Amino acid sequence: EDDRLIDRYGRVARDLRVSLTTACNLRCTYCMPAEGLPVIPRDQLLTPAEIARLIGLGVRTGIRDVRFTGGEPLMRRDLEDILRAARGAADAASSDTVSFAITTNALGLEKRAAGLVAAGLDRINVSLDTVDRAAFAAMTRRDRLDDVLTGIRGAIAAGLAPVKINAVLLPEVLDGAADLLAWALEHGCRLRFIEQMPLDADGNWARSDVVSAADLLGRLSERFTLTEAGREDPAAPAEEWLVDGGPGTVGIIASVTRSFCGDCDRTRLTAEGTVRSCLFGDEETDLRALLRSGATDEQLADAWRGAMWAKPRAHGSDAPDLARDAFADTTRSMGAIGG
Ligand code: GTP
Ligand code: 5AD
Ligand code: SF4
Repeated sequence: EDDRLIDRYGRVARDLRVSLTTACNLRCTYCMPAEGLPVIPRDQLLTPAEIARLIGLGVRTGIRDVRFTGGEPLMRRDLEDILRAARGAADAASSDTVSFAITTNALGLEKRAAGLVAAGLDRINVSLDTVDRAAFAAMTRRDRLDDVLTGIRGAIAAGLAPVKINAVLLPEVLDGAADLLAWALEHGCRLRFIEQMPLDADGNWARSDVVSAADLLGRLSERFTLTEAGREDPAAPAEEWLVDGGPGTVGIIASVTRSFCGDCDRTRLTAEGTVRSCLFGDEETDLRALLRSGATDEQLADAWRGAMWAKPRAHGSDAPDLARDAFADTTRSMGAIGG
C-alpha cells in the first residue's frame, strides 16, 4: 500500500510548508495590502500540539523538509514551542532526518535565534529585496532596513549560516541587485532572486512588468562574472551561478519564465489548518475541522492524500503573452499562503 502524498501526475510531496499566521510587521507590496491581512481569530489558528500532530503525520507519509512561513512566523510568540513539539513529532514518526526551516523577514531575529536553534531549527531563509534604505522603505512600507540586517547578523552569530536571502525581482530591486549581491557575499549569505508571481494582494501584477531572470543576469554581469552551476537538486526552485569563480553563488527562482511545476514536491498547510496542494488554485481541504472532531490519524492522512491527488499540473505561467487571468486563479495573496 502506498501511503505517500502523491498526485495524479505522479509527483510525490516531501517538502511541507506550514504557514503560522497572516500577521506581519512589514507590508511588502508584492505580498500584502497596506492595511495588512485580516487577523485570524485565535481559536481558528492551529495550536502547537495540532501543528505537531499534522507534521508527524506528514513525516509518516514521506515529508522530509518542513518550513514554517507566514505572514511572519516570528509574529508567533510560541514559535519555539511549535518547533520543539514538531521536532518531537517528527522524531517519533521516522528515524530519517527531517529538516526544519523558517522563511522570515528577520525582524527581532537576533534576540530569538539562539532559542530557535535550541528548539530544533536547522536553517533560515530571509526575505530581503534591497540594501538601499529608501528602496527598502518603499517596497516594505516600513523604514526598518537596519533592523533586518541586525537580525541576519544575529542569526549568523547563532550558527544559522549559511543564511539564504530571497529578493523578489521588482524594477527597484534590479537597480540595487549588484549592491545586494555584494552585501550577501560579504556576509556569507546565499542570495536568490525570485521572479514576481501574481500573488500580490492588490492585484497589480502584470506579465509585462515581470523583471525576468534574463534581465537580472544582464545587470549583474556588468559587475560580476557569472558561471552557470545548475540546481542543488532537481526539485530545488533556484538555478545557481558561481560568482567570480566561487565559492560565492547567486540563484534565480524563475517561477514565471521557467516554471518548475513538473518537479514540484511541495504540500502546504495554512495557519487555519487547511491543506493547499499548490500556491495557485484555491481548493483547500480543512484538516482542522477533522482534527477537532476527533478524526484518527488514518482519516486525517486520507483527507490530506485526497487534497494532493487534486493538485493542479501547473500554474499556467508558461504562456509568453500571459495576462493575470491566465494564471490559475488564486484569491489568497502570498501573505496568506506563505510563499
Ligand atoms: P529552500 O529549501 O531553502 O530551497 O527553500 P525554498 O526556496 O523552497 O523556500 P522559500 O520560502 O525561500 O521560497 C523561495 C521562493 O520560492 C518563494 O518566494 C517562491 O517564489 C518560490 N516558491 C516556493 N514555493 C513555491 C511553489 O510551490 N511554487 C512556485 N511556483 N514557487 C514557489
Ligand atoms: N512572487 C514571488 N515571490 C514572492 N514572495 C512573496 N511574495 C511573492 C510574489 N508575489 C517571496 C518572499 C518570501 C518567499 C517565501 O516568497 O520573498 O521570501
Ligand atoms: Fe508546485 Fe503549484 Fe508552485 Fe507549480 S505553482 S511549483 S505546481 S506549488
